[in-house]
Amino acid sequence: MTNLELQLRKNNVFPRGQGNLLPIFVKKGINSELWDEDGKRYIDFGAGIAVVNTGHTHPKVTAAVQKQVANFSHTCIMVTPYKVAIELAEKIIEKAPIKDPKLIFVTTGAEAVENAIKIARAATNRPGVIAFNGGFHGRTNMCMGLTGKVAPYKNGYGPFPNDIYHAPFPIDYHGISTEDSLKHIDNIFKVSIEAEQIAAIIIEPVQGEGGFYEAPEGFLQSLRTICDKHGILLIVDEIQTGFGRTGSFFACEHHQVEPDLLTMAKGLAGGYPLAAVVGKTEIMDKPLPGGLGGTYAGSPVSCAAALAALTVIEEEGLVSKANVIGDTIAEKLRQLQKQYPNLIGNVRNSGAMVACELINNGDVDCPNPELTKDMVTEAGKNGLILLSCGTRGNVIRVLTPLTIEQHILEEGLDIFEKTFLSLVGN
Ligand SMILES: Cc1ncc(COP(=O)(O)O)c(C=O)c1O
Repeated sequence: MTNLELQLRKNNVFPRGQGNLLPIFVKKGINSELWDEDGKRYIDFGAGIAVVNTGHTHPKVTAAVQKQVANFSHTCIMVTPYKVAIELAEKIIEKAPIKDPKLIFVTTGAEAVENAIKIARAATNRPGVIAFNGGFHGRTNMCMGLTGKVAPYKNGYGPFPNDIYHAPFPIDYHGISTEDSLKHIDNIFKVSIEAEQIAAIIIEPVQGEGGFYEAPEGFLQSLRTICDKHGILLIVDEIQTGFGRTGSFFACEHHQVEPDLLTMAKGLAGGYPLAAVVGKTEIMDKPLPGGLGGTYAGSPVSCAAALAALTVIEEEGLVSKANVIGDTIAEKLRQLQKQYPNLIGNVRNSGAMVACELINNGDVDCPNPELTKDMVTEAGKNGLILLSCGTRGNVIRVLTPLTIEQHILEEGLDIFEKTFLSLVGN
């Protein structure tokens, strides 16, 4: 069965809303390499969108999963819980940048965000939430409301929940300063809703889908100050940035800020569906018994995978390796930028979250989504999985597994360069 045949079959049974970036049907994955149904090999610079930080089919993760499924795969944590979930929770709590926290397990990132908002509202008795332009928090109704990017996440799906307010995310490169953003928040308190009715401010320390923009130094601390002044909870969404991706275990550690609640998913379980909300005990204990959970919340299989993935992150030094990987990629992209400053406007990285922003005529305000799309498509044909992002669709993001071997990384970067040069006429 070829990729083409499978794509045709997929088109018959899946609606276009659940499309695929590339017509590549994966048959096998080992660390940073994938093989498709046609037998073609790819280097994976996407890691399933920052999920397989420990690589595809890491032997320790696979062994832990096999051992767990041989015992039992599901009982429901709210009916008859199990040790592997407790062990994992204890381990996450050790790592969380919050003092004496508790946590809940859920299954997806969107669910973690939904629950963080539920918990914040229950703990404060307030309705309002402030989120940021360009932010992405998931595809459920509350998460769509929080998301600050219309296409393709919001068009046609309203109405969204009330009491959500958006502020600009400070992005120096686009002329939006920290002061602009803070003034806007202050203005929300003046013209839309009083600060004492805001339950939470939710922020990604590095915007993911929005374009890989890192919160400037001091910004999270300013939000912490605003929150403390008005009794608002600070929720840090680390679903894309967590588990070593940005060169610290959680990205908010770079900012020396203690959030009240933190959401995690993706890299947590090395490729198995698991998410969590961790938060200060007095906040986490506010919802009534039975108010939080889900049938598959904290699947024992995912918990076993996560425990193994956390061990791999520690044993293989993946947190510091993220910086080495990210700097290697950024350096290569900067070399290309020097040659093509009119097309590559900006290269940035937070650890191994690397992005380059493609523009036209050297103009920051002239995004180049066409070249971005072509890069993703052509790189795929050349054997490299690349992802794009950005509110203007003009950012290429690189999210390799943190276990990627140096020679594979270099091979992937060579394909990147070759693809870029072939598209821009060299
Ligand atoms: C920052 C952030 N929050 C929430 C989500 C939603 O996670 P999920 O797709 O697992 O629901 C994502 C997914 O990309 C994300 O990057």
